[in-house]
Amino acid sequence: MAFKERVFSGVQPTGNLHLGNYLGAITKFVALQDTYDCIYCVVDLHAITVWQDPPELKRTIREVTAAFIACGIDPKKQIIFNQSQVAEHAELAWVFNCVARLGWLNRMTQFKEKAGKDRENVSVGLYAYPNLMAADILVYRATHVPVGEDQKQHLELSRDIAQKFNVDFASSIASNGYGEQFFPLPEPIIQGPATRVMSLRDGSKKMSKSEPSDYSRINLTDDADTIAQKIRKAKTDPEALPSEEEGLKPRPEADNLVGIYAALNNTTKAAVLSEFGGAQFSTFKMALVDLSVAKLGPIGSEMKKLVQDPVYIDSILADGSARASTIAGETMKAVKDIVGFVRRS
Ligand code: TRP
Repeated sequence: MAFKERVFSGVQPTGNLHLGNYLGAITKFVALQDTYDCIYCVVDLHAITVWQDPPELKRTIREVTAAFIACGIDPKKQIIFNQSQVAEHAELAWVFNCVARLGWLNRMTQFKEKAGKDRENVSVGLYAYPNLMAADILVYRATHVPVGEDQKQHLELSRDIAQKFNVDFASSIASNGYGEQFFPLPEPIIQGPATRVMSLRDGSKKMSKSEPSDYSRINLTDDADTIAQKIRKAKTDPEALPSEEEGLKPRPEADNLVGIYAALNNTTKAAVLSEFGGAQFSTFKMALVDLSVAKLGPIGSEMKKLVQDPVYIDSILADGSARASTIAGETMKAVKDIVGFVRRS
């Protein structure tokens, strides 16, 4: 059976959005809207797998929504909403809790990392998180999912769940008139050069909202002065920039800044080096400041404007949720038939 092509992805409303989220995820979301019908979700149910301060959670849900819009996702053409407004995510996740095997979840490296030594004390939700992620995608029967490297294992699990559901319920799927396969096996979209943005203080660590030093990251809401200061203070080494990409290999901080420049300017590292090879960092950093301020400044100010109007943001989320619910409701009805639940017609 051919499934309608549809993109789904989610961003967690936790902490500040930074350059890594922008280059690694949101710009890709923006690009995909020309080719696909897209559903972009602020995954608040995922966020509470670890403690979130309630007023802060509300603020960040709206902030991520504002970022989606400010970065250029069209909320009329695409669907932008927050997960908790569409109950079918949690409902399908329960069914998937009963499809996925304990052994599958035990292999999830992100859980192992996040739980660390404190396994006995983390939430059950953190453990079951990948099943909810599978439900997010499959409740829309989405076929394509833009994800970063760190989410590939979760996406594979979504495929395994879809596959097991299709096989376990094959005869019920057929007898209820849903064809041969009910769920598509969603594929990752990894477009363009993998944009892994690293910390400005340590080129071997990912840029992250949980890093204590704010100088390690550029937040989407940083103003021009702050951006300039952070780039000027970014860790580098004393050598000039190399002319070939090969020369970046042993120099993670240089590699990161050149990568950021290339991604912001929509070119390759090689092209950046052909322009700046041999230049000192002081020169290159000035160019990077100008480029960053030119690209991120307007987004930051648009975000700030949008978050000052929560009524507007909430109306976008309500509209998106209503449209998402229509699709999710259809899927959930079918799932109930397939699993053998009796439902109101
Ligand atoms: N787990 C993803 C992250 O932390 C967020 C997410 C939740 C997601 N549901 C999703 C991403 C569905 C893609 C598809 O980045």
